[in-house]
Amino acid sequence: MKQSKSCIIPLLATGAAAQVVKPANFVPGVKWQIDIMASLDITKTLTPTDALVWDLDLYHLQRHPDIITTLRSKIPNVSIICYFNAGLAQPSDCDWDTVWQKPEYKSLLGNSYDPPFSEEKWINIRNTTAIDLLKNRVTTAANLGCDGVDPDNIDGYSADTGFNLNQQDYIKLMTTLATTAHGLKTKRGNTLLIGQKNAPELVSSLNSVLDFAVLEDCKNLRNEADRAFCADFQPYITQNKPVFSIEYPTSLRNKNSPQQCNTSGANSAQYTASCEIDSAVGGKRGNFKFSEILKLRDGADESEHGELNGCTQYCGQGQGKGVVVTPVNEEIDGDECKPVSKSFKLMAREFAA
Ligand SMILES: *[C@@H]1O[C@H](CO)[C@@H](O)[C@H](O)[C@H]1NC(C)=O
Ligand SMILES: *[C@@H]1O[C@H](CO)[C@@H](O)[C@H](O)[C@H]1NC(C)=O
Ligand SMILES: *[C@@H]1O[C@H](CO)[C@@H](O)[C@H](O)[C@H]1NC(C)=O
Repeated sequence: MKQSKSCIIPLLATGAAAQVVKPANFVPGVKWQIDIMASLDITKTLTPTDALVWDLDLYHLQRHPDIITTLRSKIPNVSIICYFNAGLAQPSDCDWDTVWQKPEYKSLLGNSYDPPFSEEKWINIRNTTAIDLLKNRVTTAANLGCDGVDPDNIDGYSADTGFNLNQQDYIKLMTTLATTAHGLKTKRGNTLLIGQKNAPELVSSLNSVLDFAVLEDCKNLRNEADRAFCADFQPYITQNKPVFSIEYPTSLRNKNSPQQCNTSGANSAQYTASCEIDSAVGGKRGNFKFSEILKLRDGADESEHGELNGCTQYCGQGQGKGVVVTPVNEEIDGDECKPVSKSFKLMAREFAA
């Protein structure tokens, strides 16, 4: 609060990157949880309380800001990363009706994402108006009390978006959003952090600008046409920035259990393949110091669902161990979006500028 004006003004005036102040525990290997599929159920016992970074959906939190308050009361020093879909807009977003469906913005939306996510429409992020609208989401996150943002789907350069977007377009989007985030102060008094989601092709341009990364299937255990890409993200680790990594073993699912979670964990072969972490830099897996977790893999049909719900197996505790089922309540996901008021610290900083 007592930041001197002489410090802030030149920083903003010259456009130089602001000094990023992050929580002391926000470092490689930190234990984390991600649940963007359904809202946390704060009426139930929260678990795991030793996870110090939580990646939650921005618009679940805008509907239920008490989730943030509860999480902070149960886990002192927790960092809350707020996920939003940056590459696409979707009806469940709180700004869908108020922003993206406005007649003047409808031309910013292009093709649908692949099923089952075809309600989501690619955004023309080359357009500066679209970038401004996404900057608003970053500001919303800060006002809501998030410690960071996780903008998803920044790899539309390899999709049929309808706008022929390229890597440079997404690099510009992310560097612009990073300037916005780093100009904002969190309610805890740190810098609002911003991460890179997948998109290994962009690491060389973004690793010095962004503060962490969130990866899915970087070991390519699904053996799809993609390649394994964990090692591409080591530049983040080198700079003491955490890399949060998710693998999706099929055997973590038990359809008959709550949240379809097999509390015995992934089977031996899949546990080993998913959880192995390099013990030194330069290892063959490329995931030295990653924060590795296992989640349900989306099934072939609708009866198998739940990807990125509360079902999680933590690596490092051995096969059959480390499974937690974080309580969620999807019944409240569609509740009314609450207005977000500006935080005092934010206003103080804007005023100083
Ligand atoms: C929270 O962080 C502060 C500052 O790093 C530290 O002094 C304190 O011990 C931490 N509290 C807990 C409960 O970890
Ligand atoms: C960007 O989108 C806005 C809003 O739809 C539109 O008015 C503007 O002309 C677009 N800019 C460019 C350069 O296409
Ligand atoms: C649950 O996991 C255990 C151990 O990995 C496995 O033996 C069992 O078959 C799984 N259960 C289901 C229903 O898949």
